[in-house]
Amino acid sequence: MNTPVSIHPQGDIAIVTLDNPPVNAISAAVRKALWQAVEDIDADPTLRAAILICQGRTFIAGADVREFGQTPEPPHLPDLVDHLEAARVPWIAAIHGSALGGGFEIAMGCRFRVAVPQAKIGLPEVTLGIIPGASGTVRTPRLAGVEVAVDLVTSGKPMAASKAREAGLIDAVIEGDLEAGAIAFAKAALAKPLPAPISARPVAKMDDAFWEAKRKLAAKPGHRAPLEALAALRRATELPFDAAMAAERESFLALRTSDEAAALRAVFFAERAAPRPDALRDVTPRKLAQVGVVGGGTMGAGIAAALRSAGLPVVLIERDDHALARGIDTLAKTFAGAIKRGKLTEQARDALMEGVTGATDYAALSECDLVIEAVFEELSVKRQVFENLIAHCRRDAILATNTSYIDPREIFAGLPGAERFIGLHFFSPAQIMKLLEIVPLPDTAPDVLATGFALAKQLNKIPVRAGICEGFIGNRILKRYRAEAETLVRRGVPIAQVDAAMRGYGFRMGPFEAQDLGGLDIAYLQREGARAAGQDVPETLGDILVGAGRKGQKTGGGWYDYTEGDRTPQPSARVAELLAPHIAKDAPGLEDVQIAAQLIAAMAAEGEAILTEGIADKASDIDLVEIHGYGFPRWKGGPMFASGKHR
Ligand code: 3HC
Ligand code: NAI
Repeated sequence: MNTPVSIHPQGDIAIVTLDNPPVNAISAAVRKALWQAVEDIDADPTLRAAILICQGRTFIAGADVREFGQTPEPPHLPDLVDHLEAARVPWIAAIHGSALGGGFEIAMGCRFRVAVPQAKIGLPEVTLGIIPGASGTVRTPRLAGVEVAVDLVTSGKPMAASKAREAGLIDAVIEGDLEAGAIAFAKAALAKPLPAPISARPVAKMDDAFWEAKRKLAAKPGHRAPLEALAALRRATELPFDAAMAAERESFLALRTSDEAAALRAVFFAERAAPRPDALRDVTPRKLAQVGVVGGGTMGAGIAAALRSAGLPVVLIERDDHALARGIDTLAKTFAGAIKRGKLTEQARDALMEGVTGATDYAALSECDLVIEAVFEELSVKRQVFENLIAHCRRDAILATNTSYIDPREIFAGLPGAERFIGLHFFSPAQIMKLLEIVPLPDTAPDVLATGFALAKQLNKIPVRAGICEGFIGNRILKRYRAEAETLVRRGVPIAQVDAAMRGYGFRMGPFEAQDLGGLDIAYLQREGARAAGQDVPETLGDILVGAGRKGQKTGGGWYDYTEGDRTPQPSARVAELLAPHIAKDAPGLEDVQIAAQLIAAMAAEGEAILTEGIADKASDIDLVEIHGYGFPRWKGGPMFASGKHR
C-alpha cells in the first residue's frame, strides 16, 4: 500500500519522510501514517530520536483545506500533536519551505524545530476564517511568549526563519543540507538533558490592558476569526492546558462552518485557480527578458517599480527630458517608501534603479519583449505612441495598453500585428495593488494572452481576464456601486451614513470618502467625454459638486469638507445646500445593514450582467477583482459570493 510516510533509520536516528504532494497538507491519510510512525519508532529500542522531514517544495502547509467541509476522521490533529510530544524518543521537525497552521502545530509536537534560512513559520488560520485547531493558540505562547503568539496568530502572517529563531519559535537555523544538519543537531541534543515538552512549560498571565490593546489592533469590522483567536490565546494563559485545548477545539470547529470561513476558503481556491485559466492550459507563455514602459506618471512609474521588483530590466520612455527626470524621481520615491517601511535596503534600491534605462527616444525599446503604454488617457496620444512603437520595436514584441476606459480596439485599430496587442490594466499604486485585469483583443494570440498571465504571476499579482466593455470588470462595477450610493443619498440617506455602513461592512472607506481621496474629476471628465460624444449621460450628484469646484481632498472639499492638513471628512453644509434640491424630504431612514445590502446587491447585479455578456469567465473572478482592486473585505468573499452567486 502507498503510504505518505516512510522511515529510514540512520544509526540510532529515524529519518521520517513525509511525501504528500503538492504541499504535504495533513489529510486523514497523513495523520494516520504519522500516528503509526510514532508507534513504530517507539517500539524499536535501537532508535533514540526521529527527524520529521518533508519531500517537495515545502514542509507541511497545514491541514488539508479541501477536507474542511467534511466530518473530521480520527486520528484528529490535536491528538496527533499530543502523541508526537508524548513519544518515547524526541522528535525534531526539519523545516524547509513553510511550516504553516497544522504544519507548525505538528512541529510544536516535536521536541525541537530546525529550519533552513529561507523557511517560513506561520499560523495563517485567521486568513481562512478559523483559528488554529491543534494547539496553536495554546502551545505557541508557552513556546515563545504571549506577545509573539498574539502577533503570529492574529495577523496570520508568516515569519522568516531568522526572526522565528530570535522569537524562540525554532531552535536552530541550518545552513547547508537540512537532513545532515538536523542529524548533527539531534546528536548534540541527545547528549544533553531534554527540554520540557511545550505543554508542560509555564505561560505568563497578561492584564486586561494588554488584551484590550491587542483587541483594538486585531479588530476588523465583520471579521470574527482574529478576535476569536485572541480570546483563545487569553484562555490559554488563564486556563489549565487541557481546558484551553478543549476550548480552542470547540471554537475552531464552530468557525470552520461559518460564512466567513466558507468565503475565505472560496477566495483561497479562486486565487490559486486564477493564474491558470483552462483555455490556456496547453499554451506556453513567451519569455520576457526586458520590458518597456511608456509614460512615467503615476501608473508608469508604479508599473516600472513592480517590474523591477520582479527582477525584470526596464526601459522607461517619457516625452521629454523634464518628464523623464520626474518619472525616474517618482520611481525612486516608490522605492524610498519601501525603504522607510523596512521592506528594502538602500543597496537593494540601488540595484533596482540600475536596472532602469530612461530614454526619450523610442529606439531604446528595440530589444524589449513587451512594452506597456501608460500615457495620458487620450485616444490620439495613445495612438501616436503605438505608431512609434510599431516603428521602433521588434516585430514580435508584445504591445500592451494600460487604458482604464478607452476601447483597446480603437487604440490599435489599423495597426499591423494584431496578434501581439493586449490590454494590461494595472491598479494604483501599481507596485502594491495585486489585481491585473488582462484584456485580450479579438485577434490577440493565445501565447500573448498566456504571457500576460505569466507576467502577473511573476509580479506576484492576481490576473483576471476581462472582456472589452466600458471600465472592463472593476471600473464598470465601481460605476454601478457609486450610482447606487448616489441613489441612496437622493432618497435622503445621509452621505456619512452610507460611508459608515460600508466601513461597518468591512471596507476601509465608504464610496464617498474614497471619491474624495481619489478625486471626483476623473469620473467627471469621463462622463463629460461621453456626453461630448453624444451619449445620454444623466447629471450625477458628483457632477454638481465638481461644477461647484469641489473635486475632493485636493481642492479642500468634495462630498465632505476638510481642514488644511487633516484628512478627516467633515459633513459639509455647502454640500447639503448644493444637493438639497435633489434629495427627497421626509423619506424613511435605513439601517446600516440595509444600506450595505443594497450596495452589495447592486455590485452583484452588475457582476451578473458582466458574466452574461462573457466579460468575465466566472463569478469568482469578479470577486477577485473586487477584493484585490477595490478593497472589498476578503472575509465576505466578494460581491458575488456574498450574494450567493457562487458557493
Ligand atoms: N490544503 C489543501 N491544499 C492546499 C493547501 C492546504 N492547506 N495549501 C496549498 N494547497 C494546494 C493549493 O490549492 C494548490 O493546489 P493546485 O495546484 O491544485 O491549485 C497547491 O497546493 C499549491 O499551492 P500554491 O499555489 O499556494 O503553492 P505555493 O508554492 O505558491 O505556496 C504555500 C505554498 C505557502 C504552502 C501556500 O500554498 C499556502 O500558503 N497554503 C495555505 C497554508 C494554510 O493556510 N495553512 C493553514 C491551513 S488551516 C490549518 O492548518 C488548521 C489547523 O490549525 C488545524
Ligand atoms: P499620469 O498623468 O500620471 O501619467 C501619464 C504620463 O505619460 C505623464 O508622465 C506624461 O508625461 C506621459 N506621457 C504623455 N504622453 C506621452 C508620450 N507621447 N510619450 C511618453 N510619455 C508620455 O497618468 P496616469 O494616472 O499614470 O495614467 C496613465 C494611464 O493609466 C491612463 O491611460 C490611465 O487611464 C491609466 N490608469 C490609471 C490609473 C490611475 O489610478 N491613475 C489606474 C489604471 C489605469
